[in-house]
Amino acid sequence: MEQKRRDIVKALSALTATLMIPFRGQTETVMQGRIPTDTGELNDLSDIVNLFDFEKMAEGKMTRMAYEYVASGAADEYTLRWNRLSFDQLKLNPDVLKDVSKPDTTITLFKHKLLYPILIAPTAFHGIMHPEGESATAKGAGAAKAIYTVSSFTTTPLEEIKKVATEPLWFQLYIRDDRDFTKNLVQKAEFLGYSALCITVDSPVGGARNRQAKVKFKLPDNLNAPYVNGDFFAKKPLTWKEIEWLISFARTPVLLKGIMNPADAEKAVNIGASGIIVSNHGGRNLDTVPATIEVLPQIAEKVNQRIPILMDGGIRRGTDVLKAIALGAKAVLVGKPICYALASAGAEGVTKALEILRSEFEMAMALTGRATIGDINPSVIWK
Ligand SMILES: Cc1cc2nc3c(=O)[nH]c(=O)nc-3n(C[C@H](O)[C@H](O)[C@H](O)COP(=O)(O)O)c2cc1C
Repeated sequence: MEQKRRDIVKALSALTATLMIPFRGQTETVMQGRIPTDTGELNDLSDIVNLFDFEKMAEGKMTRMAYEYVASGAADEYTLRWNRLSFDQLKLNPDVLKDVSKPDTTITLFKHKLLYPILIAPTAFHGIMHPEGESATAKGAGAAKAIYTVSSFTTTPLEEIKKVATEPLWFQLYIRDDRDFTKNLVQKAEFLGYSALCITVDSPVGGARNRQAKVKFKLPDNLNAPYVNGDFFAKKPLTWKEIEWLISFARTPVLLKGIMNPADAEKAVNIGASGIIVSNHGGRNLDTVPATIEVLPQIAEKVNQRIPILMDGGIRRGTDVLKAIALGAKAVLVGKPICYALASAGAEGVTKALEILRSEFEMAMALTGRATIGDINPSVIWK
């Protein structure tokens, strides 16, 4: 009886998530289709047990404007929800009685050894989330031994972030109308030691960010994004020609962020990109594009290991990381949870978020009988 009730509640909450009745502060738990259980008070970091908890804690600490900026997606937020639901709909197929006593989560990416395949996705304006802004994120990433991809729309200068970083930093680039400015910015990042460039290619214009419009989102007067240089969105066309131009002078690996189909992935390989990031911008740009985990297998088939594929969008659980790798990703990036963790507890929050995800991933590997990353393949997904 109890089980039946749970099934019904579960089905209903999944339906609610699909219809998107907004539940402030519970967006991500409800989207996950779980029974919204009372997790008790979230007073400090020791009360946090999973990435969803960070959203609830952060909501109480952020301004309404900042919370809406982070939590929202584009338009009716279908893609935002699908990013999560598509992970939940994939079932796992564990192998038992394997020796998983020495789990190895390391990978090598552009000649750098990562202890585990989880990076911080570029997210703008950390100054609205925590007084220490991007510096806290870098410290938190450093303590968790993870790579942090700094957004072009950072509220902290690149040199300041670099000063406190103890692990490699990557730089996300929006190609600006002023090409000299863009080139100088890339060269500055490279000079400072940022070790890869992610060019975001999915934003010729912004999405229909209704929730941001409702709160009249703008940067508070005390904050400044030093590399915005004009309008947020470029007026000049951004095409494959500009990517070729950028690759021609970049000295670090160039990844294209925002690839969503095999044809564009093929072009990225042919133009000489060092990697791609399968991303729909966390559902913030074009609503009703598929979930990233849904398009990943076709893209992986096309790319056929010629360059590494990273992915983001909806990664909240260690099992999500496992599924992404099984379907062709070399590593994953995490966006919103890091923002919430930063807002909840600064650098320590960021470290804890990464550690939770890493340990859940290790658990997921062990429980599916996969001792190394090389052991993770599509057979881990139940068919
Ligand atoms: C608050 C916020 C700001 C973002 N800012 C940027 C940005 O400046 N540049 C960029 O390429 N992507 C940006 N993104 C998209 C993320 O890099 C990433 O693609 C997305 O958040 C991944 O999905 P997830 O949040 O479900 O993990 C932003 C996302 C969020 C939530």
